[in-house]
Amino acid sequence: MELGTPEQPLRVAIIGSGPSGFYAADALTARNATVTAHVDIFDRLPTPFGLVRGGVAPDHQKIKSVTKVYEKVANRDNVRFFGHVNYGSDLSLSDLQQHYHAVLFAVGSASDKKLGIPGEDLPGSHAATEFVGWYNGHPDYRKLSFNLEAESVAIIGIGNVAMDVTRILARTQEELLATDIADYALEALANSKVRRIYVLGRRGPAQAAFTNPEIKELGEMPGADIIVTPEEAEPDPLSAAYLGGPGADRKDIKNVEILREYAARTPEGKPVQIIMRFLTSPVEIIGEDRVEAIKIVKNELYQAESGELRPRATKETETIPVQLIFRSVGYRGIPLPDVPFYDFQGTIPNDRGRVLVEQGSDQVVSGMYVAGWIKRGPTGIIGTNKPDAVETVNMLLEDVSAGAVWSPDAPTPEAIPALLESRGVRYVTWEDWVRLDGSETERGIALGRPRLKYTTIEDMLTALEGTRSPSGD
Ligand SMILES: Cc1cc2nc3c(=O)[nH]c(=O)nc-3n(C[C@H](O)[C@H](O)[C@H](O)COP(=O)(O)OP(=O)(O)OC[C@H]3O[C@@H](n4cnc5c(N)ncnc54)[C@H](O)[C@@H]3O)c2cc1C
Ligand SMILES: NC(=O)c1ccc[n+]([C@@H]2O[C@H](COP(=O)([O-])OP(=O)(O)OC[C@H]3O[C@@H](n4cnc5c(N)ncnc54)[C@H](OP(=O)(O)O)[C@@H]3O)[C@@H](O)[C@H]2O)c1
Repeated sequence: MELGTPEQPLRVAIIGSGPSGFYAADALTARNATVTAHVDIFDRLPTPFGLVRGGVAPDHQKIKSVTKVYEKVANRDNVRFFGHVNYGSDLSLSDLQQHYHAVLFAVGSASDKKLGIPGEDLPGSHAATEFVGWYNGHPDYRKLSFNLEAESVAIIGIGNVAMDVTRILARTQEELLATDIADYALEALANSKVRRIYVLGRRGPAQAAFTNPEIKELGEMPGADIIVTPEEAEPDPLSAAYLGGPGADRKDIKNVEILREYAARTPEGKPVQIIMRFLTSPVEIIGEDRVEAIKIVKNELYQAESGELRPRATKETETIPVQLIFRSVGYRGIPLPDVPFYDFQGTIPNDRGRVLVEQGSDQVVSGMYVAGWIKRGPTGIIGTNKPDAVETVNMLLEDVSAGAVWSPDAPTPEAIPALLESRGVRYVTWEDWVRLDGSETERGIALGRPRLKYTTIEDMLTALEGTRSPSGD
């Protein structure tokens, strides 16, 4: 019998229900797909959608509506969702090999990159990853607390995550009430004493990683002035040459224009000041037993062999008193049991989505695929994951044609729910999630908010008590 036909459907396990997991499921099961495939999507959380729920800023609700696309995929007859199932403890690689023809890891990048400077781990110095998870009600982070008694905060890094963190710290209570920010975060931020937010970029305005809408939004905050000095808003000679040349990116040109306009503004005296600093790197986080200040060094840019403009420290340093620090210098993947890992990049080594035994090798691990941030590293917006997942699925389908996938002993749909039940794993079905989603929305509407999230796994499972369907279908 040929694999990928109605008589013998291709069975694929997708680990992770973020954008890349859903785009991969879509590519495998769409009506115009070239094979008949049955897909089971697993997530360690009872809730789907990865960073769309737990990362995308709560004041960017429109972006979250991308989940409508994923809901359509989940509602297909040949797609199932098993939430609250952790690959590595509830399910192993050998379980998957017994029940599927292939596995596709789409687990994202849950950890953070380190700066490697003294004082980085002092209380009061946090990865942005933690703050983002906390304000978004991610169960892993909800118990954390942040010193919002701080008057001055430093955010290290000038990517879009840094922009999110800055906005959330600078939003008024009224603005936050219109979001689905976690209830405890709403309360903590209502009592925030934060008045100055320093946003520190190691390179210049022309190399900023933030995008135009995000930096524009910081200039339109009802409760915050944005401050940048004309000297720091002005590109250095190397950047000016780049901006005037044929290869300049529109985004960079526009970012510089926006920042110049900010430099020309007179602050209105709003309660919070957002102070953008460029060409500065942190060298030390200072404090006895908690963060008291950050020492930064002035950088200059030089042209690396690759042509890129890189930062280089000068001798000029400065110490800024701050009581809270968020390190927003990028996310990082974490290794999974029985899956190769490329530690240098924090990714799973792969060739266009086919997992490799190690980075640089040309030997693939049969039946194992990867998509999204854990495939290419923690960059790119939600939409970037679509072509990325399609590329992986194309490799998988090539391997199906070549007979190079697994030959499972028990490729039946019933086997997996039976296995999970036998292990006492309380998995959450798509129907369960629909109920939970409805309940969160109702709770939110009652308060005039888009949603009131459940933020512990226990509360999620309790809310589902008595409503759970007996099988995974
Ligand atoms: C703070 C932040 C804000 C962002 N805001 C935007 C935005 O506004 N607009 C935009 O376009 N892009 C935004 N992005 C980028 C976007 O979120 C990512 O491109 C996208 O989420 C990556 O998708 P992914 O599927 O690879 O990973 P993720 O979204 O991280 O999904 C991974 C999933 O895998 C699950 N998982 C992990 N380990 C296991 C395991 N062992 N077993 C089972 N399941 C597991 C996780 O629970 C998670 O659900 C943002 C990113 C961040 C960090
Ligand atoms: N609204 C949105 O669309 C949205 C929102 C959030 C996130 N995202 C996307 O999610 C992805 C991840 O975002 P991100 O902000 O985490 O990463 P990012 O865009 O890669 O930005 C990381 C920032 O950290 C800086 N950095 C790295 N190492 C540093 C160091 N040692 N010292 C000082 N600064 C350092 C980088 O500077 P250099 O440039 O000099 O390396 C850069 O400014 C991005 O693709 C982003 O666009 C999108």
